[in-house]
Amino acid sequence: MTSLIVLLGYMGCGKTKVGKKLSKKIGAKFIDLDSEIEDYHSKTINQIFEESGEIGFRQIERKILMSILDKNEFSVLSLGGGTPCYFDNMEIINKKTNLTFFLNLDSQILVERLFTRREKRPLLASINKKSEMKDYVNKHLFERKNYYLKATHIINLREKNVRDTCDKILSLLEKDSP
Ligand code: S3P
Repeated sequence: MTSLIVLLGYMGCGKTKVGKKLSKKIGAKFIDLDSEIEDYHSKTINQIFEESGEIGFRQIERKILMSILDKNEFSVLSLGGGTPCYFDNMEIINKKTNLTFFLNLDSQILVERLFTRREKRPLLASINKKSEMKDYVNKHLFERKNYYLKATHIINLREKNVRDTCDKILSLLEKDSP
């Protein structure tokens, strides 16, 4: 089995939950890119956005991503929702591993989840109406989808819980292994 498995998708699609469970099941290390950034800088994502702006955050995100990719550990890596959409991050990730999974979830479900959990996400924190959140997520997801579709595998989550999603990924990993 290739050593690095990468999970990507929009904010709120469940990358962290799935990553934690999947890594346990296969005995791999779990790496959450946002947490790595926070630990490295001893600051929250919100603080980094406040102090360095989104561009500063993207540069930091890129640097930490590269250091994780260089380590090449047997691991499950959950990206941030924007990671695949900046610089040539997705090209570099795809050169490192052919096990990239886009967790694809309907925008309607994303909006419901994100509206109640928006304060930790600087891009969403100032949205106060659900209708505004809906417009924002629809447009943003439309802009980002082409990057997400560069993943080698697409997992449609509509009726899948975390366990089903892990099982689906596991079955694809088994198919891919020599
Ligand atoms: C972002 C997603 C966040 C975090 C930052 C920016 C984005 O991660 O990296 O707030 O641009 O979509 P999650 O997808 O884990 O919420």
